[in-house]
Amino acid sequence: MLTTVILAAGQGTRMKSGRAKVLHEIAGLPLAAFPIRLAIALGSDPIVVVVGHQAADVEAALARRFPGKLRFALQAQQLGTGHAVMEGMKGLPPAAPHSRVLILYGDVPLLSLATVQELGRVMDQGGHALVAVTMKMADPTGYGRIVRDSAGRVERVVEHKDASPAERAIDETNAGIYLVDGAFLAASLGKLTNQNAQKEYYLTDVVAFAAQDPRGAATVVVQDPMEVMGANDRAQLAELAAHDRATRNRALMLSGVTLIDPAVTYVEPDVVIGKDSCLGPGVHLRGKTRIGERVRIDTGSILTDATIGDDVEIRAHSILEEATVERGAIIGPFARLRPGAEVMEEAHVGNFVELKKARLGKGAKANHLAYLGDATIGAGANVGAGTITCNYDGYGKYLTEIGEGVFVGSNSTLVAPLKIGAGAYVAAGSTLTDEVKPNSLAFGRARQTEKLDRAPALRREAEAKAAEQKKKK
Ligand code: UD1
Ligand code: MG
Repeated sequence: MLTTVILAAGQGTRMKSGRAKVLHEIAGLPLAAFPIRLAIALGSDPIVVVVGHQAADVEAALARRFPGKLRFALQAQQLGTGHAVMEGMKGLPPAAPHSRVLILYGDVPLLSLATVQELGRVMDQGGHALVAVTMKMADPTGYGRIVRDSAGRVERVVEHKDASPAERAIDETNAGIYLVDGAFLAASLGKLTNQNAQKEYYLTDVVAFAAQDPRGAATVVVQDPMEVMGANDRAQLAELAAHDRATRNRALMLSGVTLIDPAVTYVEPDVVIGKDSCLGPGVHLRGKTRIGERVRIDTGSILTDATIGDDVEIRAHSILEEATVERGAIIGPFARLRPGAEVMEEAHVGNFVELKKARLGKGAKANHLAYLGDATIGAGANVGAGTITCNYDGYGKYLTEIGEGVFVGSNSTLVAPLKIGAGAYVAAGSTLTDEVKPNSLAFGRARQTEKLDRAPALRREAEAKAAEQKKKK
């Protein structure tokens, strides 16, 4: 049984922000989402988030993102990390035997699952009361130091502000992340005092209690200090984001995806990409986007919650959101697929074409400058440049249904609701308001008329008129 307590009550002054620190984002996720995802991956239940500064905002944002998964505890006054955990444990039932509590920070996003699992392994093996994450640091200023006895056993943690010069020389620091026996933690929290330099309830005192307990305290040293770094200001936030991106992009490349320039390729953690796909520079893949195999996505394209089949080509600067594109289709450059756009196999969507709640059938084409909203376009149809579905009359939205093999001439205005039967042909420049029967040719424009040899006379008249005007001035 694992309980996770995530400390997220601190103010984050150095962010210089109106927004709570733990809601600042890395890879499209708020900082606090990272430890929460870790706890979920471990099967932890309950997961308690201790909130304080801007508690209502933090709680609302996290509850929305992880519905039904979190409990929130309010730490109205930030009286220290020990006090935060006390508040976090308050509403919980008394610790069952062998239950454990994992303590994480809401502003430390890059802690790996492997490190947390290692905490568990060490505790399983040694039967310790507590296992803490530590790190060696060239400059440990500000951090709590790990004080060990002559045999190398952990004795206690001393905060920088409370440390003697000799203690400040210790380069092993406390990351603030612990796995603790549940009953032991409950008993220890009851013994905390605030008799120290900062008049705070230090959670670190629990380490000393564990060292005094027959079961003892142990440590896991992280090799990559970025794992336990907090994001205190926006520069650190960007540094952590770059590190996270590098790690995940590397894994993507090793799984068979080409990234032309991984430093400027942005793939959020829940995105899935098939092998032999290739991402150009400045591509953003967000949310739950799924990409098939052998897909090419060029420079500057942004896909959010999109589903892309195998062998699709998405040319530069295309924007897709909640759209589906099937095998072999070609999108862009400069295409916009809005929610509900469905592009079937081998279809083409070209430059400056916008689709919204519209299905473009197999092999159909809309290659230039079109708006297709609330529409179905049959297989093999051709939508000419400048075609607009007038789906909205200022009050309601209506459907345009274009049958298979229809040819819609350029600059056509299709006033919905409208049906164009299969195989029909719409003359260029038409405005259509009525149903077109299958296989018919529809004109929705004035017929062309012509006055033979009238042009020279027209020019003479125009010239005379201009001369008259000039004289008047
Ligand atoms: C703490 C540790 C220190 C360790 C350092 C690592 C203690 C006493 N010290 O330092 O040994 O080296 O972390 O970063 O634990 N928080 C609350 N409520 C509070 C106080 C803090 O929720 O009342 C949260 C903060 O929002 C933050 C985390 O706890 O996410 C750590 O607090 P912070 O003040 O950054 O750590 P220190 O106390 O300086
Ligand atoms: Mg502090």
